[in-house]
Amino acid sequence: MYFFAFLKYTLNMKILFYAAKTFDKESFNAIIDRYPDISIDYVSHKLGPRSATMADGYDAICAFVSANVNAKTLSVLAKNNVKIVLMRCAGYNNVDIEAAKELGITVKTVPKYSPEAIAELAIGLALAANRRLCKTYNRIRDNNFDIDGLCGVNLFQKTAGIIGTGKIGAAMCRICAGFGMNVIAYDMYKNPELESFVEYVSLDELLSRSDLISLHCPLTDENYHMINMDAINKMHDGVILVNTSRGPLIDTSDLIRGIKMGKFQGVGLDVYEEEARDVYYDHSSSLLPNPSASRLMDYPNVVMTAHQGFYTKEALQTIAETTLQNAQDAMNGIQNKNNIA
Ligand code: NAI
Repeated sequence: MYFFAFLKYTLNMKILFYAAKTFDKESFNAIIDRYPDISIDYVSHKLGPRSATMADGYDAICAFVSANVNAKTLSVLAKNNVKIVLMRCAGYNNVDIEAAKELGITVKTVPKYSPEAIAELAIGLALAANRRLCKTYNRIRDNNFDIDGLCGVNLFQKTAGIIGTGKIGAAMCRICAGFGMNVIAYDMYKNPELESFVEYVSLDELLSRSDLISLHCPLTDENYHMINMDAINKMHDGVILVNTSRGPLIDTSDLIRGIKMGKFQGVGLDVYEEEARDVYYDHSSSLLPNPSASRLMDYPNVVMTAHQGFYTKEALQTIAETTLQNAQDAMNGIQNKNNIA
């Protein structure tokens, strides 16, 4: 009996794919034929404690950055015999890893898909905020070619401060060096690839010396709100701040206080606190579910995108390939660097 149950599981895996968008279906369907033992059903619902009941009858689920994979969600999945959680993203601050381990649920992520995709958006946000590109675009569409109020600063020979120099931070260091910037960084571990052109400094020194600060560390219990009023006060006036990592690294209320004080030349945000109910939905005919984004968008030097650092063709292809390989490996009981539980 147990043998047949095992055999069925090893020969076929049914995945329920949460929060599926057209681009997800396209990238996964393009390669699903390579995995004849795996089938996918797509639903638009986001994974959370209530929607987890939909996974009844599935071996695995696939979820994204804004899913709520807390202990409650995991226990509902476990009750429905789901054994594998496939996160199709790099960050996993939204997953209760300890609960997954206790419940015997395997969790795999896509730790590296295209670091350049995120780093290139980070420099894009820095440029857009600094040079007021979105305001310019809107003015020109209105036949207004007045450039008053759109003045930026050069990045050449300025100092870029990169917080977190793993895969994405390293790509950002290379981009900033390419702009002719001096690059300094803060991380608990030095990345040997960067030693020839990056100076590692303390966080306080980075905050006080940088003209551009870009966040590339994961969100952990220790660095929640690492950019708060205390940190903002250490920055010099006219700094550009970019966050493509995770929203709660920045205290939104303190950021708004800093913006009002005139601290920032520009602020570029791909991520922000409380974004989970905003991304990836069309709220153009309704009020936003939380006030954070509207408050931030009030300021002319703030540019925001919709947590879309991952959204390039190359990244989507790698996410699909790695996620399906993760599923195949999980079927075969293979543990590797993509396992977080
Ligand atoms: P990684 O694991 O390669 O590098 C993270 C680096 O941050 C490591 O070197 C680590 O030592 C360092 N670090 C950890 N805590 C730190 C702290 N408190 N202060 C300074 N450094 C710290 O990760 P990777 O691939 O570079 O990704 C970084 C983050 O980017 C992810 O955790 C995720 O939150 C975010 N991300 C955002 C995406 C988007 O679409 N906007 C897409 C993919 C990732």
